[in-house]
Amino acid sequence: MAGPVPGFERKHGELWCDDVALSAVADGAGTPVHVYSRRLLRDRCAALIAAFADYPPDLHYAIKANATLAVVREMREAGAHADANSGGEIEVALRAGFRPDEIVFTGVGKTHDELVRAVTLGLKAINAESPGEVERIDAIAAAHGMRARVAVRVNPDVDAGSHPNISTGHKTTKFGMTVAQAYAMVTEMARREHLHVVGLHVHIGSQITRPAPLTQAAATIAKMAATLADQGIQLEHLDIGGGLGIAYEPGQEVLTAEEYAAAVLPVIRPTGLRLVLEPGRWITGPAGVLLSRVVDLKQQADGRWFVIVDAGMTDLIRPALYQAWHEIEVVTPRDGAALECDIVGPVCETSDTLGKQRSLPPVQVGDLVAVRDTGAYGAVMASNYNRRPAAAEVMVDGAQWRVIRRRQTIDDMLQWEA
Ligand SMILES: Cc1ncc(COP(=O)(O)O)c(C=O)c1O
Repeated sequence: MAGPVPGFERKHGELWCDDVALSAVADGAGTPVHVYSRRLLRDRCAALIAAFADYPPDLHYAIKANATLAVVREMREAGAHADANSGGEIEVALRAGFRPDEIVFTGVGKTHDELVRAVTLGLKAINAESPGEVERIDAIAAAHGMRARVAVRVNPDVDAGSHPNISTGHKTTKFGMTVAQAYAMVTEMARREHLHVVGLHVHIGSQITRPAPLTQAAATIAKMAATLADQGIQLEHLDIGGGLGIAYEPGQEVLTAEEYAAAVLPVIRPTGLRLVLEPGRWITGPAGVLLSRVVDLKQQADGRWFVIVDAGMTDLIRPALYQAWHEIEVVTPRDGAALECDIVGPVCETSDTLGKQRSLPPVQVGDLVAVRDTGAYGAVMASNYNRRPAAAEVMVDGAQWRVIRRRQTIDDMLQWEA
């Protein structure tokens, strides 16, 4: 989706979220604050489901992208199911109202306790990442007299073409089993009394902007499913993971939801199997901004400025971790000459830079800036580094807004300590 994102628009020169001025949210909830558009969250979830209308998928929202309870509840109400990446995310999914048979569970290094919980709940699928994990699931299912629903995560050895830290489908990464391992594993699993092999799973990475890797990954498991069917092993579903990218930079070329569907459906459709999707970023990313106040201005040696704001890498780590670009806008711009600047946070790290080499309208201490497209991998990756409390989170619903996660206090942070 290129260009300005509907949901966050300028009215009378000021940036709004739907029918609420962002300045009103900042005045009421304080800063830094993550602000989400309920309308956008729902619209984007519905748009992705609609793009696959001629082969209706089970869309399992990837909770890791934004695990705030109210956001996860919105996803359920918009027609999604859930994809959990940890025991904690399974509990969030349950509390958001998902049934166990609406939850798939993925993750390298699932602990014994997490597997016991997943097996005994009877999740729709545990996406197994290694032969050893399959053994552990089998033993737990046998001990509980159950039959666990397991899918095998395949590493298709595909380069997703995104940042190395968020690429997961190459053979050098820790994720999944090789195609050969997966074939052997599934054949063997099919003979076990306490396992039900329900599918194959693949997730090659995040922020993918080209169709070819997505097609290649889907084709790998589609071909495997056909081969297994020839051997008499009939699966229920193919899970092609998440990964669809969004336009963080103006004019950045990305796939539309329809182009995504067109990239994968031709290889999935002939299998006749149910299609599971695990999107995160594409749904929630553009539906959120991080609102922050300027706390200081300081000129650099080269004449440019530091615009120092009250949000930092503890609220949004993507720029520091992935050198990611986020558009940064002044909420109520003033007239005057542009300010050439770096927008930085208050954390004692040089990497605590939200935007480098930017040009902003002139700003003063106390002005508000909005960091765009922070609804995915924003609040959810927050830390308390420098003893900074987690920012508040706000949901805008038309002309109303409410706090869905209150700002953390120092007492909240210290309450677990002796
Ligand atoms: C297993 C799995 N599924 C789904 C996702 C969601 O990916 P994205 O937010 O790029 O759609 C991730 C994130 O990387 C993941 O690890």
